[in-house]
Amino acid sequence: MSALPAAVDDGDFVLSQRDFELIAGIAREQAGIVIRAHKMAMIRGRLLRRLRALQMRSVAEYCELLRGPDVHRELPQLLNVLTTNHTAFFRERHHFDHLRSQAMPEIVQRAQKGDQRVRIWCAASSTGEEPYTIAGTVIAAQPPKSIDLKILATDIDTDVLARAEAAEYSREVYERSPADMKPLLQVEPAGGDMVRIGANLRRLLTFRQLNLIQPWPMKGPFDAIFCRNVMIYFDGPTKKSIVDRCVDMLRPGGWLYLGHSESLSPPHPSFELIGRTVYRRR
Ligand SMILES: C[S@@+](CC[C@H](N)C(=O)[O-])C[C@H]1O[C@@H](n2cnc3c(N)ncnc32)[C@H](O)[C@@H]1O
Repeated sequence: MSALPAAVDDGDFVLSQRDFELIAGIAREQAGIVIRAHKMAMIRGRLLRRLRALQMRSVAEYCELLRGPDVHRELPQLLNVLTTNHTAFFRERHHFDHLRSQAMPEIVQRAQKGDQRVRIWCAASSTGEEPYTIAGTVIAAQPPKSIDLKILATDIDTDVLARAEAAEYSREVYERSPADMKPLLQVEPAGGDMVRIGANLRRLLTFRQLNLIQPWPMKGPFDAIFCRNVMIYFDGPTKKSIVDRCVDMLRPGGWLYLGHSESLSPPHPSFELIGRTVYRRR
């Protein structure tokens, strides 16, 4: 194993071991995000963005702010730069194939026998590609007009939420979607090289800030929860507690979609594995 750097340096922007530990401690305590020492250079790079915005000249100066009485004012911005927001339309496509052909017909049938309500939660929605993919997929499943369908999209990061709500993407990002799936997003030109997600999809969505390690204000129940590629950043007990809380948020028979490297191991007594990282509440 190689020795860990005592500090990462770039001219004036030195991230000392002590300051790294402060930042990593805040990430863990405030967001559940575990940042290991080999990520020090990456963290330093991200902090530089924040330092520039604040016109600060050193990481040490920024960390003084974090050690001071006004830390709570800076925390949301710090968390915004610490989160990893990588996402894509139709990422892990098999989940959307499952939602469209297996889950939605059953969900709609259940709703039609009862209160007509269908609720889906996208629990780490990042810049919006995932919840708009969900919206396009459920519309493609052609639920009857009587169904009251809503999708809640949440994330801890206020910057990505604002971008998601704007619903505008570069054509390049959009073009990376699988060719047969692109029409589902119903995009319209948005000026320059941008496209806007269709109004039919946008009206299904509500965006809210939500920190998964804090109490969840929603009552549920949800028919499906997408909690993908976020628990990889958490430790085992945090992941377990979130999965336990998903049980309470889901209807019996509801679906939980996890990211490709987030399988439930050991198996959870309340979930049956029914496909590639697709779980069903017993
Ligand atoms: C890698 S992205 C995954 C986006 C999307 N779910 C996907 O699979 O494409 C991880 C997202 O989780 C969010 N996140 C990290 N910690 C969080 C927390 N404690 N509560 C809510 N969201 C969190 C980040 O802001 C980021 O947008």
